[in-house]
Amino acid sequence: MMKIRSLDAYQIFDSRGNPTVECAVGVEAGLVGYGRVPCGASTGQFEALELRDNDPTRYRGKSVFAAINHITDTIARAVVGREVCDQDAIDASLIELDGTENKSRLGANAILAVSLAVADAGAKTKGCALFEHLGSGKGSLLPLPGVQIVGGGAHAHRRLDIQDFLLVANCARSYEEALEVTHNVYRTAAELLSQRGLVAGVADEGGYWPQFAGNEAALEFIVEAIRVAGYAPGKDCSISLDFAASNLFDGRCYRLDADNRRLSSEQFIDFIVDWCRRYPIISIEDPLADDDWVAWRQLGNKLRRHVQIVGDDLFTTNVRRIQRGIEDGVANAVLIKPNQIGTVSETLAAIEMTKNCGWQPIISARSGETEDAFIAHLAVATNAGQIKVGSFSRGERMSKWNELIRIGRVLGERGRFRGARVFDSLSPLYRKI
Ligand code: PGA
Ligand code: ZN
Repeated sequence: MMKIRSLDAYQIFDSRGNPTVECAVGVEAGLVGYGRVPCGASTGQFEALELRDNDPTRYRGKSVFAAINHITDTIARAVVGREVCDQDAIDASLIELDGTENKSRLGANAILAVSLAVADAGAKTKGCALFEHLGSGKGSLLPLPGVQIVGGGAHAHRRLDIQDFLLVANCARSYEEALEVTHNVYRTAAELLSQRGLVAGVADEGGYWPQFAGNEAALEFIVEAIRVAGYAPGKDCSISLDFAASNLFDGRCYRLDADNRRLSSEQFIDFIVDWCRRYPIISIEDPLADDDWVAWRQLGNKLRRHVQIVGDDLFTTNVRRIQRGIEDGVANAVLIKPNQIGTVSETLAAIEMTKNCGWQPIISARSGETEDAFIAHLAVATNAGQIKVGSFSRGERMSKWNELIRIGRVLGERGRFRGARVFDSLSPLYRKI
């Protein structure tokens, strides 16, 4: 049993160079746990509130000094002296102290920084790895990575409308092999793009930001990169898409500007089903806007037995929204982002609910990340089975992939990998190999 001695908080910077919150929780024996908060660009309207100062004279309005003051003042008074391993009780106090539905008083960024730091400090006091602490020793499954090859949407100035084109290494028999396949396809894609003079840099999560004619050209390109790298599309490797469709919806229609098209919900669903027939797509995330529940139900009825349908902005890691999604049968997987909800305990509860109904949880980074690798531990701790942290470049992304390698070493013989068996219940519409 060890008590929290001190709580410090200060501003650090995320991978876009924007201010964010870091919290340091000091416990007896000189141990310190850290929590660092990531930041989204295509945020869902139902996410917990990220408190920014909005003072145009400081960091163009993006500073987080108010959130930091909440930690060192209000939160410190409630948390210092508490038993550091009482994560649930501390999180419950933070929620109560804030008192709002969306954590808008203290800020979800303040609350999460503390919650993450308490978890890290708890692990250090026990002298165990963070994933062991978070999962009470029950976590042993290394996740299947979804790795961004091409970025678009809000992460690349809408050069393409679809936000994420990811690779899934179905053929991998181990986590390391999944990284090897990913490396091969990612580097092959770079070669093909530069041969054609199409590279225009990398997007916020490290995927290429190429000059394609339209959205479908990106899909065709990834299939080609898979082939040229020596793999069979749909067999060895599949594609996973994040439409982040709330950003495409103008209230009436889904706008695909790169293709010069505006589609109704029904037309957009047909468009997606057609893609799932013609391309080796195993997973689609936020294919529809986060309040278009009727269309989500229609899409769910058509596709949920064939592809993984993931709710990100739709669910915002919130058990109430996940519950509604389960009742309505709109999806079969939930994207899990701790900063959408604001505490470690609520994140764990969202994962639990997802698994209990037989859906897949996918642990996810944000487009604005820090070097922190908490989510790597979270994925293994909860035996989530899948993780998405952006591309296979940029330090803030690689820190997660590399941490999972270390976790694999710690697990040794105990480590397991299900790989693409997480998709076993699906019968893909794409049959061409
Ligand atoms: P975000 O993007 O962090 O900008 O929200 C990630 C995602 O949508 O999955
Ligand atoms: Zn998303």
